Amino acid sequence: MKTAIICVSKHHGNTKKIAKAMAKILKADIFEPKDVKTKKLEEYDFIGLGSGIYAFKHDKEILELACKIPKLKSSFFIFSTSGSGNAKYHKTLKKTLESKGNKVIGEFACPGYDTFAIFKLFGGLNKGRPNKDDLAKAEDFAKKILNKKISPGEI
Ligand SMILES: Cc1cc2nc3c(=O)[nH]c(=O)nc-3n(C[C@H](O)[C@H](O)[C@H](O)COP(=O)(O)O)c2cc1C
Repeated sequence: MKTAIICVSKHHGNTKKIAKAMAKILKADIFEPKDVKTKKLEEYDFIGLGSGIYAFKHDKEILELACKIPKLKSSFFIFSTSGSGNAKYHKTLKKTLESKGNKVIGEFACPGYDTFAIFKLFGGLNKGRPNKDDLAKAEDFAKKILNKKISPGEI
């Protein structure tokens, strides 16, 4: 099983930590969107797309890439870190992938250290996140992906 993980992590490197934990289990290649040729994605059984959440959505480069990906045989998964750690922010990316007929088989969301705007004044939200437990959860998620045990929409 071949996996590509495409990730943007520009605030504190939080999402990159999650991407690496998943990549360890899935033996995945990690890319930034700018280095991805959509034709090359045909080689992968699983494709993970993730970033920090910036203004209620995934990063612009991830969303733009998702718009360019044609229908593939690959199964997709989505992940993020954010101040709230809520998967509700995945809607835009999920809809974009599904609008092309692509399958999203799992989603993973986790709190990440956040010093955006007002949070900076108080030393930041979610200090130390993702932590050891979060990374263990990301690994468990990746194991489920590997075993294809995740049903659509499950976090
Ligand atoms: C410009 C900006 C906008 C953000 N918007 C949101 C948001 O809408 N909701 C939220 O929960 N967190 C928001 N955050 C917090 C980040 O999603 C969070 O810190 C995340 O873990 C950053 O991931 P990264 O270090 O991989 O970039 C925002 C952070 C920045 C810098």
